[in-house]
Amino acid sequence: MTALPVIAAALAAIFITTILIGTGGKPLTVFTFFAQTKAVFLRNKGALAALFASVFLVAAFLFAFYGASGAGIGPEQPIPFSHRVHAGVKAIPCEFCHSYVRRSTHPGIPPVEKCFYCHNDIIPRYPWIQKEREYFDTKTPTPWKKVFYLPEHVLFNHERHLKMEVQCRECHGAIETMDRISRKRFKMGFCITCHQEKKANLGCWLACHN
Ligand code: HEC
Ligand code: HEC
Ligand code: HEC
Ligand code: HEC
Repeated sequence: MTALPVIAAALAAIFITTILIGTGGKPLTVFTFFAQTKAVFLRNKGALAALFASVFLVAAFLFAFYGASGAGIGPEQPIPFSHRVHAGVKAIPCEFCHSYVRRSTHPGIPPVEKCFYCHNDIIPRYPWIQKEREYFDTKTPTPWKKVFYLPEHVLFNHERHLKMEVQCRECHGAIETMDRISRKRFKMGFCITCHQEKKANLGCWLACHN
């Protein structure tokens, strides 16, 4: 929303300039517009085209800048950790960091020690790594924000699914392409649809609900 005054100022500036140019420095003649629409329109067509083009460009720019990158983006994390960089570009296996995913109901977020397995040597002076270092030195767990939720009463276990070769992306999406993971609350229909497709246990709603 901080963008609004900027947009307003930009549009006002474009508008005023266009009128000044279009009316040859006599802005008041713009009011004869209604009387001589066609003549004024023809005389000003270059300026009008410029006006529309500018408005379009400003809108497109703002959309690209705020709209596209902001849409569906996840919560800001204490360290701008990127799965795209780590799991995508550098192809670090998911389970290197989420080591308990096969063994525990809570795969967990890697502890800060794990970051320094690499970042002792890789870009150790990078400001965000130094911030991570502070967490490490003060033995504070990094306050990551959780992004995937289940309704309270549902019990979910990764183990069973991974044994049946269900891929991470079938439930979490293409994590290795994301800089910031967006929030998602799993609904029961999501579980049931796949259980129907894969002919997995549907009677499990007795088992899943405690
Ligand atoms: C069948 C669907 C499914 C698959 C496949 C799956 N997950 Fe999950 N994952 C979930 C659900 C549902 C939750 C939320 C669990 C909760 O809140 O208790 C979750 C939560 C997580 C969490 C957060 C856990 C925490 O402790 O807060 C991590 C990390 C995770 N998954 C990693 C993985 C990885 C890595 C893989 C692949 C090796 C994977 N998941 C495959 C459904 C799945
Ligand atoms: C297996 C090695 C490895 C581990 C473990 C690892 N990283 Fe990285 N990290 C890298 C590499 C490689 C880069 C890319 C460095 C570069 O661009 O020169 C990187 C880049 C980064 C960056 C730079 C910004 C960016 O996204 O490009 C941040 C911040 C970061 N890591 C944070 C973390 C945190 C926090 C952890 C722990 C949860 C972690 N890393 C664990 C290898 C690792
Ligand atoms: C270098 C370590 C590292 C690797 C490799 C990695 N992750 Fe993560 N993962 C993290 C950290 C740190 C967080 C917490 C910050 C965040 O949510 O972005 C996290 C969070 C998550 C979450 C969100 C859990 C929640 O509910 O908060 C999921 C799901 C997840 N990772 C899945 C994956 C999958 C799937 C892969 C492989 C494609 C993968 N991760 C590879 C370090 C890693
Ligand atoms: C992408 C497909 C997929 C999704 C999504 C999925 N499951 Fe599953 N689920 C399976 C498969 C495949 C099995 C393995 C059945 C087996 O072991 O024969 C399974 C097994 C289970 C089991 C063990 C059932 C038994 O036989 O005792 C439970 C419990 C379970 N899922 C709960 C859930 C819950 C809760 C969710 C939603 C958060 C969910 N599943 C989402 C595919 C999925």
